[in-house]
Amino acid sequence: MLFSTEPKTSLDELFDREAEIERFRSGLNERLVLVLGIRRVGKSSLVLSVLNSLGIDYIFIDVRKLYDNVSRKVPAERIYNELRMSLGNLSFWEGVRRIIDEIDVSLGPIRFRLSASRIRDGIAKILEAINNAGKHVVLILDEAQYLRYSTIGLRPLLAYVYDHLRNITLVLTGSEVGLLHDFLGINDPSSELYGRYYHVVELRPFDRGRSIEFLRRGFRELGINVDDRVIERAADELGGIVGWLVYFGRLYPERGVDAINEVKEIGANLVRSELEELFSRSQYYRYIMEAVAVLGRAKWSDVMKYLMARVGERPTNATLSRDLNNLVKMGFLTKDGDWYGIPDPIVRYAVLRARYFTRS
Ligand SMILES: Nc1ncnc2c1ncn2[C@@H]1O[C@H](COP(=O)(O)OP(=O)(O)O)[C@@H](O)[C@H]1O
Ligand SMILES: [Mg+2]
Repeated sequence: MLFSTEPKTSLDELFDREAEIERFRSGLNERLVLVLGIRRVGKSSLVLSVLNSLGIDYIFIDVRKLYDNVSRKVPAERIYNELRMSLGNLSFWEGVRRIIDEIDVSLGPIRFRLSASRIRDGIAKILEAINNAGKHVVLILDEAQYLRYSTIGLRPLLAYVYDHLRNITLVLTGSEVGLLHDFLGINDPSSELYGRYYHVVELRPFDRGRSIEFLRRGFRELGINVDDRVIERAADELGGIVGWLVYFGRLYPERGVDAINEVKEIGANLVRSELEELFSRSQYYRYIMEAVAVLGRAKWSDVMKYLMARVGERPTNATLSRDLNNLVKMGFLTKDGDWYGIPDPIVRYAVLRARYFTRS
């Protein structure tokens, strides 16, 4: 069903994305694939649907789920456990079971905190065992930008897989596009992954026509007749991020046209915690996002003017440039020529709404 809120897991359920499906498929012969795009645009759906259609063995690890809000870290033992738990789905699991059991035993009960290097060793041994089974396996690290909070350095491990475990293809998905590049350090000579080739699949929000078509088709599937004007308004206000369109499709049968506002409210609440987390990382992020949200789109100098009026102080030019750059890297802003914009209308709405509750 098009309006199901879980990630799609089969190609029949996937709307559009032909080019991206093809691009991802061809990437599976490479060592490293990055699937990039903002939250809720359909990355997990694309990866899962294509892999299921090909019947390739894969291991799917949602790194965001491993993030610990209290310590603000991704504990290494959680990575180990998650990897370990996912092995049961492999078609050749019985063939590697004994050797994996031995690795488990050699590490001892993982809950007794082990040193970082022993956990890293354990992960490496599991991956070696999988590689040595001789079948092609895809290892997906979903929302991989969270790996930068890992309590152990993972770059050497990924580089080891890249260079030596030729049966394993690495797939990293990320919303925070620029940060993922930084984490891998492909352009950084001191990184273990420096200069490695990677295959990129980029997912963009649907354009207006596709969004409208998506909604029409979803409602047709439900056997519900919806006025074109409502569909067009939903597409205009919610943008082409398929996750929001799905919510709208779910709510419409009960709420009618009010569903648009409801998606904005629910969506704003969902992104609020993401924004609060973001705003805690630099004192100016909140006001920079506000400036762009209020103006619709803004140049560097517009943002500076807004900050001076709103905060009553002037950050240095370098500080503002760095913060803007980081927001672009994290996907909260886009940059088109000199213009900054907010790619997700719900994020924009959430920022505007929060403005009324915060006075500096
Ligand atoms: N091509 C698509 N066709 C239909 N539904 C989709 C498509 N892509 C994503 N979705 C739906 O949109 C929502 C978000 O998708 P998801 O794959 O979780 O995004 P991401 O991993 O980028 O955050 C889910 O409800 C999913 O079912
Ligand atoms: Mg996802």
